[in-house]
Amino acid sequence: MFRYKKTITICCLFFSLFSISMYAQLLQRVEVKYTNLQVLPKNISKEALDKQMDFYCVSLNVKCAYCHAPSLTSPGKLDFAADSLAGHKEDGRRMLKLTQEINAKYFGATEREDDFLKAINCYSCHRGEEYPTVDVSELMKKNAINSLMKSKQ
Ligand code: HEC
Ligand code: HEC
Repeated sequence: MFRYKKTITICCLFFSLFSISMYAQLLQRVEVKYTNLQVLPKNISKEALDKQMDFYCVSLNVKCAYCHAPSLTSPGKLDFAADSLAGHKEDGRRMLKLTQEINAKYFGATEREDDFLKAINCYSCHRGEEYPTVDVSELMKKNAINSLMKSKQ
C-alpha cells in the first residue's frame, strides 16, 4: 500500500513538472520579443514577421544573410537584431518605408501588420531580382523594332 502511494506521488510530481515546462515553452513561443524594429510594428506576431522576411527573400531571390549580420557569439548563425555588419538591412528598411508609404498614400493601407504589403510589395518591382533596374533605352529600341515590325505586317 505504502509503495503504491509513493508511485502515485512520483507520477503526480512528474506530471506537474511536465505541465509547467510545457506551459513555459508555450509562453516563450507566444512572447517573442523583437528588439530592433524601427519600421515594422513593435508588437508584430512571429508569424507575420516570418512571413514578411520570407517574402523579402522570394522577391529578391536572396537568403536571410543578404541583409542580416553574422552572429558574433554563435558562429554560423545570424544576429537578426544587429545593424552593424548587416549587409543590406538598412536598404531593406528604406525599401520597406517606400513600400508602406505608397500603400498608405495611394492604396488606403492601414497600420495593420498584414496591410503593409497590400497593393504594392517588394515583388511588384523586384520580380526575383536584387536590382530591378530597367535599361530604358534598350527597352525603347526593342519596342521601336516591335512597332516597326507591326506596321509592316
Ligand atoms: C531584404 C532584406 C532582408 C532579408 C532578405 C531578410 N530580412 Fe529580416 N529584417 C530586415 C529588416 C530591414 C529588419 C528590420 C525591420 C525594422 O526595422 O522594422 C529585419 C528584422 C528581422 C528580425 C527582427 C530582429 C529584431 O529583434 O529586431 C528577424 C527575427 C528577422 N529579420 C529574421 C529574418 C529571417 C529569418 C530572414 C530569412 C528568412 C530574413 N530576416 C531575411 C531585412 C531583411
Ligand atoms: C517601387 C518599386 C520597388 C519596390 C516596391 C521595392 N523596391 Fe527594392 N529596389 C527598387 C529599385 C529600382 C532598386 C535598385 C536601386 C538601384 O539600382 O540603386 C531596389 C533595390 C533594392 C535593394 C538593394 C539596395 C541597394 O542599394 O543595394 C534592396 C535590399 C531592396 N531593394 C529591397 C526591397 C524590399 C525588401 C522591398 C519590399 C519591402 C522592396 N525592395 C520594394 C525598387 C523597389
